Amino acid sequence: MPTVQFAGQSVPCPQGANLRLVLLRARLPLYNGAARALHCRGLGTCGTCAVKIEGPVNEPTQIERLRLGFPPHDREKGLRLACQCSVLGDLVITKYEGLFGQGDEPAT
Ligand code: FES
Repeated sequence: MPTVQFAGQSVPCPQGANLRLVLLRARLPLYNGAARALHCRGLGTCGTCAVKIEGPVNEPTQIERLRLGFPPHDREKGLRLACQCSVLGDLVITKYEGLFGQGDEPAT
C-alpha cells in the first residue's frame, strides 16, 4: 500500500487512489486561502490543486496539460494537478504559496 507524505504527515492509501481525494480525506491542506471553498471539485479546470509530486503517478491528462499551460501556472515548474493524479507508489508532496499553489516558496 503506497504512502503519501504531505505537510509532515504520512497517509497510506490504495494503489491507484486519486491524490486529491487522499489528501482531502486526511484533512490535509491541499488548497490555499479562498481556494478551499472556490475550486472545481476535481474537474481539472481551476488549477488550484497544483502540487509538486516526487514519486510515481500517471502521465498528465489532456485537461491537466491544458490547465498547467495557462497562467498563473507555468509548465516549466513541473507541478501537477492532484485531482488528475493517481497514486502509483510512495509520494512526497509539496504545496507552494499562492491561490493556485503557483508560488516559489512552500506553503506553511
Ligand atoms: S480541483 Fe480544480 S484543477 Fe484540481
